[in-house]
Amino acid sequence: MAILPILCYPDPRLRVVAKPVVHFDDSLQATVADMAHTMYEAPGVGLAATQVDIHLRIIVMDVSDARNELLVFINPELLWVSEEKKLWKEGCLSVPDFFDEVERPDRVQVKAHDQFGRPFEVEGDGLLAVCLQHEMDHLLGKVFVEYLSPLKRLRIKGKMKKRERSLQE
Ligand code: NI
Repeated sequence: MAILPILCYPDPRLRVVAKPVVHFDDSLQATVADMAHTMYEAPGVGLAATQVDIHLRIIVMDVSDARNELLVFINPELLWVSEEKKLWKEGCLSVPDFFDEVERPDRVQVKAHDQFGRPFEVEGDGLLAVCLQHEMDHLLGKVFVEYLSPLKRLRIKGKMKKRERSLQE
């Protein structure tokens, strides 16, 4: 297993729209294992393939307190979202050290395949619902800061540039 480098906002590769997975083969198993390893090491609660420059519809998540319940979503699709919305303070491994509130539907129902191609459905609220929507946005080339005001985004871009420079020094 490898730790994959995570792209940081505003890297243009974060805007690439991911393609559906067609082959549930060894290469997919290896990608899922590397993504899970990268997510746990970061540490984060979710990671979309887009964030590690792999443009396929793959998400790994673990929203459990004990961090021992890996969820793998291949080709996820939203089936239903609640009308009721909720504000949640979100963060993202691609926008390190930054958190802000985003309003999203409180409850979602998603269908997907597991890494072996078996279909399943989940319905949930709270962190699971937030995380699913956040990661599915990544697969569409969208980072959560795009829900914030242009002024806030500009500030974040400034912070990210400074961070990059300090990491290079
Ligand atoms: Ni994210």
